Amino acid sequence: MSHAIETDRIYLRPLTAADATADYAAWLNDPEVNRYLETRHTPQTIASCAAFIADCNNDPRSHLFGIFLRASDAHVGNAKIGFINPYYRTGQLSLFIGDKSQWGKGIAGEVVAALTAYGFDQLGLQRIEAGCYAPNEASLKIFERAGYRREGRFRSHVELDGERLDVIWLGILPGEPAA
Ligand SMILES: CC(C)(COP(=O)(O)OP(=O)(O)OC[C@H]1O[C@@H](n2cnc3c(N)ncnc32)[C@H](O)[C@@H]1OP(=O)(O)O)[C@@H](O)C(=O)NCCC(=O)NCCS
Repeated sequence: MSHAIETDRIYLRPLTAADATADYAAWLNDPEVNRYLETRHTPQTIASCAAFIADCNNDPRSHLFGIFLRASDAHVGNAKIGFINPYYRTGQLSLFIGDKSQWGKGIAGEVVAALTAYGFDQLGLQRIEAGCYAPNEASLKIFERAGYRREGRFRSHVELDGERLDVIWLGILPGEPAA
């Protein structure tokens, strides 16, 4: 089966309620996975994951995908272009790899490159943004490698482990090359 978004190792496809598994909920409850994610503020369950999928699928300003390995069809994480502003054709890209055995293999880089291209070519966006907690070096590296530029720093924007942290804001325009 061919998918709208695929790379050498992964494909992205929309999620359904059947994709809201115990593994998916467990990823989001894992402090290593959710460290820099807003989902950490609320314990996640299969029902909350299913509700999130339904909300996104009902929201024309949101395109949520599961990240699947081509070799095994295993669901390993999610990626989304959300907060789409149809007047200005902008959107925000976010992702996580929940299956930690898949970290450090460059999968997130493939996802960001492929989903960014989809946002420009298929959704017609004219600007895609991403926000990263300042200490999230892996994430910053991935976005900058895909061609995103650092555009701003929101000082003291979030709180983690009792510490105020800055958030780095990045953006990319159509045609801007990967680093
Ligand atoms: C951040 C995340 C998406 C990275 O996914 P990944 O597929 O493991 O990323 P990659 O394998 O492409 O690695 C990216 C780079 O970051 C580096 N890296 C990984 N962890 C790091 C860390 N703690 N500090 C510094 N660099 C780190 C890797 O070495 C790699 O660089 P390299 O290619 O030069 O060796 C993944 O770890 C994740 O989902 N984390 C939890 C959720 C999250 O933080 N999402 C992003 C929110 S903005």
